[in-house]
Amino acid sequence: MAARMMPSRHDPIRRRDETAIGISVDGEPIAGVEGQSIAGVVLARGRLAWRTTSAEGRPRGLFCGIGVCFDCIVTVNGERDVRACQRRASDGDVVETQHDELPEAAR
Ligand code: FES
Repeated sequence: MAARMMPSRHDPIRRRDETAIGISVDGEPIAGVEGQSIAGVVLARGRLAWRTTSAEGRPRGLFCGIGVCFDCIVTVNGERDVRACQRRASDGDVVETQHDELPEAAR
């Protein structure tokens, strides 16, 4: 049977019951839904940027959304440089935004 002919009750991509989760970002509690990425939870809260560039402190958040650009890195439960677009949010995650200064030699 072609996918377009599949009855909706057999569609494996249908909506499921939502399980609420909660994470904190820089100490702010944010509610999400099980299955969302950390970036998804933060974006759904209305926050578009959560990192600043080393050179000029410009805001960065989600850019590629597929794990390529590293614009979305955050610290999760003490682990640095986690791509927020690739990490599934877990209830109780502690997320901290990152800003790293340029090394002295690069200034
Ligand atoms: S947005 Fe590009 S790696 Fe996450």
